[in-house]
Amino acid sequence: MSDDCVPGARVPDVPASGAPASGAPASGEEGNPLRRLSLAELRRRTSAKWRTYPPDVLPLWVAEMDAMPAGAVTRALTAALALGDTGYPWGPGYAEAWDSFARKRWGWDGVAPERTATVADVMRGSVEMLKLVTGPGDAVVVSPPVYPPFYGFVEHEDRRVVEAPLGEDGRLRASALEAAFRRATAGGRRAAYLLCNPHNPTGTVHTRAELTAVAELANAYGIRVVADEIHAPLVLPGAQYVPYLSVPGAEDAFCLLSASKAWNLAGLKAAVAVAGPAAADDLARLPQIVSHGPSHLGVVAHTAALRDGGDWLDALLPALDDNRRLLGELLERHLPEIRYLRPEGTYLAWLDCRALGLGDDPAAVFLERGRVALSGGLPFGTGGAGHVRLNFAASPEVLTEAVRRMAAAVGR
Ligand SMILES: Cc1ncc(COP(=O)(O)O)c(C=O)c1O
Repeated sequence: MSDDCVPGARVPDVPASGAPASGAPASGEEGNPLRRLSLAELRRRTSAKWRTYPPDVLPLWVAEMDAMPAGAVTRALTAALALGDTGYPWGPGYAEAWDSFARKRWGWDGVAPERTATVADVMRGSVEMLKLVTGPGDAVVVSPPVYPPFYGFVEHEDRRVVEAPLGEDGRLRASALEAAFRRATAGGRRAAYLLCNPHNPTGTVHTRAELTAVAELANAYGIRVVADEIHAPLVLPGAQYVPYLSVPGAEDAFCLLSASKAWNLAGLKAAVAVAGPAAADDLARLPQIVSHGPSHLGVVAHTAALRDGGDWLDALLPALDDNRRLLGELLERHLPEIRYLRPEGTYLAWLDCRALGLGDDPAAVFLERGRVALSGGLPFGTGGAGHVRLNFAASPEVLTEAVRRMAAAVGR
C-alpha cells in the first residue's frame, strides 16, 4: 500500500483478523465490524470520507465508520430490492422499532409512537422541531464546541445562535447555560436549546443530574429543548445514556433518534422525532409535507438495525472501547503534548493540540505535512481553535498509522 504510507510505515491491506476480505463473518456471527475490510477495499468506497482527499491521505474525519453493515441490515435491504420495494415510506414501524429498542436497551418507555414523526434525518428533524417552538429572529442556544451544522442549520432558518460553552472538561456548565438562556429570551422572545446528548465532538455523555439541571433552567427561562440523541446507542463502558425526555421537567421537550450513526447508515436517511407528553400538541402542528423527507430504504434499514442488529452493536462497542484505549496509549507515546479528552461515548475524540504550537488550525498542518485528514476544530465554535476531532471508528492498524502520521507531521 505504498500510496497510503509515508516512509517507514505500512497499513496492512488484509483485514487484521485474518477474516476473508469479502466482509462475511467466518462463523456466521458478527465479529468486529471494524476489522472486516482492508484499506484497499475501503478506498473503493465513494462516500465523502474516502473521496474528499487524494488517495495518499488517510481519512479519519467525517463521522462515517470503516465498518461493514450489520447482517440484518444487508438482508432487509436485499429483500426490499428483490421485491422492487423502493417506493415511499409508510406507517409507524420505524417509531415502533425505536420504542422496543429503547425499552429493551435502556429500560425507557418514553418513545410513545403516537407522539412521534418520521423525519428525513436528525438535522432536518431538529430544525423542524425548532420551527414549531420559535420564530424567525428568535434565538437557539447551543453548547460549543459542537457539531458544526448546529450553526448552519439554525442560521439557515433565520434563527440566531447564542452560545453556552462547555467547560474545559467538556461538560455542561449551569452558569454558561443560564447566561445564554437569559440573553436568548431578552425582550420576552421565544427561544430554544439544541442539546447534543451524547455530545459531538467531546463524547461527553451527560448525566441525569446535569440533564435535570438543564430542564430546571429551561423551565425557569421558558426555553424549549430539542435534544439531538443520534449518538445514544454509542455509549461506551463506564457511562450510561440518559434520555433527555426521561428527566423531570423535560415533558415539553423533543428528542431526535436515528440508527444512522450507531449502525453507519448515513447514506440511508431516516430519523424519528419524539415529543414529550407536553409537546404533543406542538408536534401535531408539524406540516404534513415534512413526512416527505425520509427514504423508504432508510426506514427499512434502520428498522432492521433496531430490531435485529443488537448483536452487531454489541460487537462494535467493545471494538470502539479498545480503540479509545489504544488512541490514548498512542498519543501518550508519540504526542504527549496533546490533551485527549477521553470520550465516554461516540467514536469521536476531541484533541487539544494547543501545546504543539500549530496555531488555530492544527488539522491543516496534519493534513499537509502528515497526509492524515482530521476535522479542524474552528467550525465547532467557541473552544474549537487549536483542536482537532479524530474519528476512531477504524481498524487499530489505521488508527496506529494515523497517529504515526500526526507525529511525523510535527517532526517526531
Ligand atoms: C450530533 C449529530 N447530529 C446530527 C448528525 C447528522 O445526522 P443526520 O445525517 O441524520 O442529519 C451528526 C452526524 O455526525 C451528528 O454527529
